[in-house]
Amino acid sequence: MDTMADPILDPLNDEQRVAVTHGDGPLLILAGAGSGKTRVLTHRIAYLIRDLAVPASAILAVTFTNKAAKEMRERLDRLVGKERLAELTVGTFHGFCARLLRREGPLVGIDRSFAIYDEADQRAVLRQAMADTNASERVFAPGAISSVVSSAKNELKGPADLASSPKGQLDRIAAIVWKRYDELLRENNAVDFDDLLLLACRVFETSDRALEKWQDRYQHILVDEYQDTNRAQYVLLRYLAGFKQNLAVVGDDDQSVFSWRGADVRNILDFERDYPNAKVVKLEQNYRSTQRILDAAHSVVRNNAARKEKKLWTDRQGGSDIVVMQAYDESHEAEIVAREIERLQREGEAHGTRDVAVLYRTNAQSRAIEDKFRAFGLAYQIVGGVSSVTRRAPRSSRVRASTRSVSGRLSRRPSSSRRSRGGSRRRSWRSARSSRGSGSPGSSSLSRGSSTSSSSEPAMRPI
Ligand SMILES: Nc1ncnc2c1ncn2[C@@H]1O[C@H](COP(=O)(O)OP(=O)(O)O)[C@@H](O)[C@H]1O
Ligand SMILES: [Mg+2]
Repeated sequence: MDTMADPILDPLNDEQRVAVTHGDGPLLILAGAGSGKTRVLTHRIAYLIRDLAVPASAILAVTFTNKAAKEMRERLDRLVGKERLAELTVGTFHGFCARLLRREGPLVGIDRSFAIYDEADQRAVLRQAMADTNASERVFAPGAISSVVSSAKNELKGPADLASSPKGQLDRIAAIVWKRYDELLRENNAVDFDDLLLLACRVFETSDRALEKWQDRYQHILVDEYQDTNRAQYVLLRYLAGFKQNLAVVGDDDQSVFSWRGADVRNILDFERDYPNAKVVKLEQNYRSTQRILDAAHSVVRNNAARKEKKLWTDRQGGSDIVVMQAYDESHEAEIVAREIERLQREGEAHGTRDVAVLYRTNAQSRAIEDKFRAFGLAYQIVGGVSSVTRRAPRSSRVRASTRSVSGRLSRRPSSSRRSRGGSRRRSWRSARSSRGSGSPGSSSLSRGSSTSSSSEPAMRPI
């Protein structure tokens, strides 16, 4: 590879360069998958430091997962050098809020040494709260109550708000349980994940002094995956951006898949209304896929009602045709997939099974496919999910293979494969977007008291 004259600006296309070199004021970078959004944010940070002499300590970059934060930091190390990044803040919303509360917690009645409860701890406290308030688990499952409470917290509501306009019996009961649940958390000097955001917002609501301090500290704020922010995150950003409004966000309204846990795509759609001086840059050149894939994707997403118009293009022409097949049921579907893989191998288009990836929408669907693969003697590996084989009975030996390119054959989903529990559907959205972190519910890297210093940041909120 040539040595480039300018590692920060040269590897960018024109639109990317406009976004990277934008000076002060709000910036909305609207872009599709694989168009270099993360690259733009990373290079913008480097540019701010090198060319606009913004101290790294005055920059806050928010990513969706700890893994993404780590990658961003590594890329920055290479662009501007480690020494100049020492006090840069890169982390998840939850990580940032935890850090903030380690300092400002007492303003909202939280001891600085608070513990952050993981999913299992939270569930135990919730059950206790249900028992204390005589809420029967047979009427409403703890999971149902927990998700009501979580959504309400992410909308910055309290038990009283829920009680005053309940949508039904579940809300009424959740409001009562919630009150007790929060009491128990506080008695244990603990917070849950949603509290991190909620309490951070409350700090700013409560204390002008704290607000000014943090607004002064951060001269520039950059946010990746903005389409997935929820109400609390939106409010937090408004607070932090203050009058300066040096807020740069990147997002793709077509990729918003987290609405079920409070992500509000309006945050991106309304950015120009909330920040009227916003500069808008669209990144429409895609670097990952061929034109045929982009056209197919566009013909699907263009039907979305609320979206910003954009159309991805690439200079990578060609690519194989997309084939749609119809199957009678999930077993037949799996057989079609297995036979297709055999054909690809026979005709030399795939070597072994490592060149083939199979995508499915819900984890439950893996069973039929795995059964067929084992019958056909095809080695496979489940990525970002749980094998139905392991689900049924743990096995010591694992079948393995790796995935490289995507060769998904879509068939119309037979109705019999639709009986999937809500939970597994949620997980599969996560596995479908494995860049968003991995692990199953409850596998958070956070545990009680694990975050005692500002340097250890919590994982992305487990779902
Ligand atoms: N201007 C560019 N020239 C060549 N490759 C690029 C350019 N911008 C991005 N890429 C490549 O495109 C891929 C997607 O970039 P990334 O920043 O991860 O996109 P996004 O965050 O939008 O999904 C990466 O492999 C990246 O190196
Ligand atoms: Mg990205």
